[in-house]
Amino acid sequence: MVHKSPREVAVEVLTTVLERKKPLKFTLTDNILSIFKKADRAFLIELVYGVLRNLYYIDWLLNGFFKDKKKLSLYTINNLRCAIYQLVFMHIPSYAVTNETVNVEKSFNGKPKVVNAILRNFLRKYNEDELLHINKDMETDIKNLSILYSHPEWLIKRWAKRFSLDELKELLKANNEKPPITVAVKPEERQTVAEYFTQKGFNVNFSKHVNSGLIIEGQGYEIRKALFEAPFFWIVQDEASQLVCFLLEPFEGAFVLDACASPGGKTLLTAALIKKGTIVCVENNKKRLEKLKENIARVKKFIPQVEIKLILADICKMKFKDYLTSLGFNGNKFDRIILDAPCSSTGVIRRNPDVRYRVNEREIKRLSSIQKIMLENISHFLVKKGILVYSVCSTEPEEGEEVIESFLQKHNEFISIKKLRTYPHKDGMDGFFIAKLLRN
Ligand SMILES: C[S@@+](CC[C@H](N)C(=O)[O-])C[C@H]1O[C@@H](n2cnc3c(N)ncnc32)[C@H](O)[C@@H]1O
Repeated sequence: MVHKSPREVAVEVLTTVLERKKPLKFTLTDNILSIFKKADRAFLIELVYGVLRNLYYIDWLLNGFFKDKKKLSLYTINNLRCAIYQLVFMHIPSYAVTNETVNVEKSFNGKPKVVNAILRNFLRKYNEDELLHINKDMETDIKNLSILYSHPEWLIKRWAKRFSLDELKELLKANNEKPPITVAVKPEERQTVAEYFTQKGFNVNFSKHVNSGLIIEGQGYEIRKALFEAPFFWIVQDEASQLVCFLLEPFEGAFVLDACASPGGKTLLTAALIKKGTIVCVENNKKRLEKLKENIARVKKFIPQVEIKLILADICKMKFKDYLTSLGFNGNKFDRIILDAPCSSTGVIRRNPDVRYRVNEREIKRLSSIQKIMLENISHFLVKKGILVYSVCSTEPEEGEEVIESFLQKHNEFISIKKLRTYPHKDGMDGFFIAKLLRN
């Protein structure tokens, strides 16, 4: 394999993510990151995440420097975006940025002369003091907020209906900050695991909202590398996601259905919390089911008394009932059900900065109707006095409150015990909607 520079890989990743709409987390993988030395790896991550978190702002800066943007390939445009990020946000000397950007352009037979001219022109006119002034004036209307914080206008408009201007800005800012790496461990082992990581040189803090969480400071890749050597039960999981498992009121011996299970974060923490029992995991995507299998295999030895069964099925279709019967669950209903439904992911923009450029309002409506069908279908599998926890990592009411209200209207045998929302700017957690329902 020809060894590419981090700048070349950044341009390729950005083109795949922005133009082919492939999620960043499946594009900039640990496999790719492992090719690089530590400093280059950190640079590549900063460049890709930085450009994505500031895309509209960078494009706004670049605008006016193109003669004919349409004549430039998407690679060239992303190469220029990387250059602007390095100049404005990373403060890398201009001669180095210009040289390297021209080299990247040559590596894919692009337009090195055009790129060189655009950057030189930009450097002549770019004035930091003037920008600071413009930024201050921009913080007032939606169009400007959209550029400054790089979020689509339609999403800001939605949030502006629910938040004051100050809070809206806090949310936008929080979405562009580097999120903490949070790990779920067994509550009874939290102290021991924290000491283990402290000894390995990491700064470790207890999470505030759940007693299974550890917040480990450092670069994600390096933390994941250290985690894979750790002789403990662990899963990388945000606090909000851990909270879902606690709201389930897990108990020893429970019979649990995880209706949308992969990659298994909630399955595994629930397994660690119930200690003994059975969890049936349903997932409709074959590839994702394989990922779930892998994740279970990694920690199975730490949860030996929990049986985990996997079913490849679509929970929107009642055929799913037959799958359960075929596995020997003859009409047995579940004590606990987790429905962590597929959603727009607008609550995890800080972890996946590309989500904001992929999602749209039509998609939110489509997902909302799927979520309603899912909830309707699985609700029949819950025992009386059983608990069902519904969750989505979305900020949008169509995927949260609306789903629960429409369900409760049709089902007076269910009551809602708790409904809550978490936000990155308020709680330091991912943005989740969680509802805890009890069947009477
Ligand atoms: C939000 S993710 C679940 C995350 C998981 N609960 C965790 O904590 O790691 C939703 C999952 O549901 C799966 N899914 C989507 N539609 C489904 C369906 N109709 N039936 C079963 N699973 C589905 C998706 O493939 C995805 O893996």
